[in-house]
Amino acid sequence: MHIPTLIPWILATAAAEPIANVLAANSNELSTLTSLLGTVPQLTTALATASNITIFAPSNQAFTKAMAAMPDLATMAKNTTFLTNLLEYHIASGVMTAAMFTNTPQFASTALTLPSTASGTIRTQMVELVKSNADALVVSGFRQVSRVSKADLFFDGGVLHIIDTVLTVPDTTSATALDTGLTSLAGALARTGMVAGVDALRQATVFAPSNEAFREVGNVVESADMEFLSSVLDYHVVMGTAAHSTELMQMVGASGGSAKLLTAQGGMLTVREENGDLYVNNAKVILADMLTSNGVVHIIDNVMNPLSTTSLPDASREKQAVDFAGASSVSQAPFTSGVSPTATLVPVTIARAGGFAAMPTAALMGAVGAAAVMANM
Ligand SMILES: *[C@@H]1O[C@H](CO)[C@@H](O)[C@H](O)[C@H]1NC(C)=O
Ligand SMILES: *[C@@H]1O[C@H](CO)[C@@H](O)[C@H](O)[C@H]1NC(C)=O
Repeated sequence: MHIPTLIPWILATAAAEPIANVLAANSNELSTLTSLLGTVPQLTTALATASNITIFAPSNQAFTKAMAAMPDLATMAKNTTFLTNLLEYHIASGVMTAAMFTNTPQFASTALTLPSTASGTIRTQMVELVKSNADALVVSGFRQVSRVSKADLFFDGGVLHIIDTVLTVPDTTSATALDTGLTSLAGALARTGMVAGVDALRQATVFAPSNEAFREVGNVVESADMEFLSSVLDYHVVMGTAAHSTELMQMVGASGGSAKLLTAQGGMLTVREENGDLYVNNAKVILADMLTSNGVVHIIDNVMNPLSTTSLPDASREKQAVDFAGASSVSQAPFTSGVSPTATLVPVTIARAGGFAAMPTAALMGAVGAAAVMANM
């Protein structure tokens, strides 16, 4: 008998069991999820044979909380498409144990793909995984945050974490701006007829000036003709890529480095890192990584000027200097009259020890393995 070699084998076997068993063993917390899964048998079947996945399982309390916030959720959950989308967004590609969450955010593909409005293509939806203090956090659409409350429940196909808040499925760039307080940007996109165009981009990185930034150049943007206003807005859009903060940091390379990005306006933007903060031209990224269904939005503290592409940031300033000659502030946030958000979601900033840092591992980036398998169900 070689007992010492047998023991690890027995442990490994005992750790893996069907997903149904894990759900049943945790029914005190996962009975709502289990009964929802029962109404979408196709997804349940796919889950039973899926491999290399991480499931973020909302607790019963998480669903109670979601229903309090969205009273029609119970009715919507009877819509199979809606429910399947919602649950697929809770399944990430790759096995990500709680110990693999780091202070540097990692972006994982989920099993949810949404059709693109324009091109007939589909877009894989992402979640952000990040560690803050001792918490493993999952950041979803509109920068809503869920906390892993019970980690590392292993099953045949991967690992399941119980989370305290239902994930929010990302929405379009314009809807995300509208409902997270970026109402000047949302209003300006509507004013210039750019909403459909921006939302139809398959992948987009949008640098979104805060309402305060628009207010500070209020007289200039409000009196601009449509052509100039459109070019200003286009200068804030990078097409063809969803550049999360980690990718921007990789592009700029070492501290103090910079990288240029081509904008929809045709001019280049310069991304820089100074003292752990990210800047584009002379605008500071004050909230990074709002995931949208077609890319990512970073909130910045200044409106960038397409006629002033060489402006440099001043990291010693609390707020970057405005970049339009003759600019003066207005009291009302520009373009917000008649703009009505459908919800008010507060995007969450997560404190990171050491600020942004280059991503140490590409473990979950660009990964489509399990997501592609799930998408074929
Ligand atoms: C069901 O949900 C999908 C996805 O959210 C939506 O597009 C569709 O309109 C809904 N159907 C009904 C009948 O509400
Ligand atoms: C598991 O998924 C991750 C992330 O998608 C991928 O990088 C890795 O290659 C996959 N591993 C296997 C064995 O399929």
